[in-house]
Amino acid sequence: MADASVHTPVSKVVIPVAGLGTRFLPATKTIPKVLLPVVDRPALEYIVEEASRAGLDDVLLVIGRGQDSVLDHFDRRPELEAALEAKGDKARLDAVRHSAELATMHAVRQDEPRGLGHAVLCAQRHVGRESFAVQLGDDMIDPRDPLLPAMLDVQRRYGGVVLGLIEVPSEHIHRYGCVAATPTGETFDGYSAINVSALVEKPTAEQAPSNLAIIGRYVLPPEVFDAIRATPPGAGGEIQLTDAIARLLYDGMPVHGVIFTGRRYDTGDRSDYLKAVVQLAVERDDLGPEFRAWLSEFVRAQ
Ligand code: UTP
Repeated sequence: MADASVHTPVSKVVIPVAGLGTRFLPATKTIPKVLLPVVDRPALEYIVEEASRAGLDDVLLVIGRGQDSVLDHFDRRPELEAALEAKGDKARLDAVRHSAELATMHAVRQDEPRGLGHAVLCAQRHVGRESFAVQLGDDMIDPRDPLLPAMLDVQRRYGGVVLGLIEVPSEHIHRYGCVAATPTGETFDGYSAINVSALVEKPTAEQAPSNLAIIGRYVLPPEVFDAIRATPPGAGGEIQLTDAIARLLYDGMPVHGVIFTGRRYDTGDRSDYLKAVVQLAVERDDLGPEFRAWLSEFVRAQ
């Protein structure tokens, strides 16, 4: 099994968005979490932009019930575009068209949210026998510090599975999938590549084999679909992608990681989401100067 997909080129990315978004209720009762705005664009638009920049322009969204609006965001809106054109509002016209020009968008339905592993399994028909990337909407990677190209290089070098990783304080490791690993001695775009020897989903600080946490970027071989099918529900009663990857590793599939040290914005929970909005707003050319001045004043007055 180990070499089955070593040199399969990667052109497709799967973005599962069908989770319940419970941490953001009630906002996410009707609005999918990935459509919540980060400044003035949905979080998902940043994610698709990142994929497109890495040359992954075939995007499959795994959507849940009532989430058709996620796909709609990437459609053209001729009436809106005509109105903006008539007004001569070129900046907004470009912004509205931008999302429709990023990639070829597809969608598949996950009938119920049975876990990230199950969501990825829903992509099997679209992906076929190719290796593919997975991006999760909770992790926004700053375009100045791209991660996917390094991960795709590692996949070209070693085949198999490639995981995006960050180092976290040990008291936070219980929120993540965690890996045991040894260095390969190589770097890709300045990020260290490591050889993964074990994976565990959401370990306690005592159980954790390292402080290396899996973030929402993966390159996966097509063999992962059989591994998911063979994986029983794990942590939280959900079919965990980490458990399926652990199974592939056990069966001899190479699993590597890329340790990301660049700028990243976590939009997974409310507090991190607010920080991401503030960080990105402060850096914007159009909003930043005024917002930064107001923010300094506001903080001083607290
Ligand atoms: P999360 O557990 O972080 O997201 O899943 P969630 O379930 O939407 O949010 P909370 O925890 O309830 O607040 C990681 C990603 O996997 C997707 C989610 O949409 C999210 O992007 N996912 C999760 C699915 O598509 N299907 C699932 O069954 C589970």
